[in-house]
Amino acid sequence: MIRTRITELFGIDHPVVCGGMTGLGTAALVSAVADAGALGFLTALTQPRPEDLAKEIARTQERTDRPFGVNLTILPTIRPVPYDEYRAVIVESGVKIVETAGSDPAPHLPDFHAAGVKVLHKATSVRHALSAERKGVDAISIDGFECTGHPGEDDIPGLVLIPAAVAKLSVPVIASGGIATGSGLAAALALGADGVNMGTRFMATAEAPVHENVKRQIVANGERDTLLVFREFHNTARVARNSVSEQIREISRRPGATFADIADLASGVRGRENVLGAGDMEGGLWWASQAQGLINDIDTCAGVVSRVVSEAEEIISRRLPSLVGR
Ligand SMILES: Cc1cc2nc3c(=O)[nH]c(=O)nc-3n(C[C@H](O)[C@H](O)[C@H](O)COP(=O)(O)O)c2cc1C
Repeated sequence: MIRTRITELFGIDHPVVCGGMTGLGTAALVSAVADAGALGFLTALTQPRPEDLAKEIARTQERTDRPFGVNLTILPTIRPVPYDEYRAVIVESGVKIVETAGSDPAPHLPDFHAAGVKVLHKATSVRHALSAERKGVDAISIDGFECTGHPGEDDIPGLVLIPAAVAKLSVPVIASGGIATGSGLAAALALGADGVNMGTRFMATAEAPVHENVKRQIVANGERDTLLVFREFHNTARVARNSVSEQIREISRRPGATFADIADLASGVRGRENVLGAGDMEGGLWWASQAQGLINDIDTCAGVVSRVVSEAEEIISRRLPSLVGR
């Protein structure tokens, strides 16, 4: 067993988190992660309406009696999102852990804290993490440049970002981005983090609600099979390399290009339906990180968590001590 401030704070067995993933953060995956002794997050906005989130939370509670959380990603959208209603559903459902991401968590903190909900905020820079800590979040997940999703514009990889964040923050820190193995967990703990967050690794699990082709592609891909897109529009995203992401990059680099020129190719609905749903790997944009280079199989969530933890224990308790004082 590896006990840290994160296992204490969230009442989980292992310092391992499966961050919110749009389209994947549903009862099937999150309950499997919870039963494995780790912490999974439903994604609020995967559910079209707040009442659908209430049902998905209930479905997860039926499947597991272990702790799990809900991710609230706050991003500018074309259609306004009723964030207050989603927040109210989370509070009323009795869920006690929330992962915020995308922008300032402050407007949501009073309600969450009044209901005894612990807030884990995902940040991609030390300055944003410090700002969230000052506003009162309970823990920080810090996403290095290796990650999928939005790594920010600073391009600082985890080897620097994680200890830089740990040095400045007082709250527990979860290392995120490019982690898929026990050596990643051991390294994160060595850098001062209290646990790890993994997204891409949990995508290639039996319980992940995506087409088998997606899982097989992650196993086949290497660490070079990602691309940075939307850089020109100051909203950098790391996605899997395919013909659609290559095309987006090529069009974006043309002089005078605007987001409207790539909006159809970049459509989230297209990626979710064609790639994640139907398994057409060239059918849209899909998200995966450099961790693809470390993933060599499709396993169950329980298998992933137990391997990551036992490999980290082996490294910490045998391999590293054997190097000291010889
Ligand atoms: C398919 C997919 C969808 C994701 N959607 C979200 C999201 O909606 N909100 C969010 O905060 N993070 C999202 N993430 C990021 C993950 O929560 C996590 O921070 C990231 O995957 C960590 O990097 P890794 O993939 O290298 O482990 C997503 C990741 C993937 C793979």
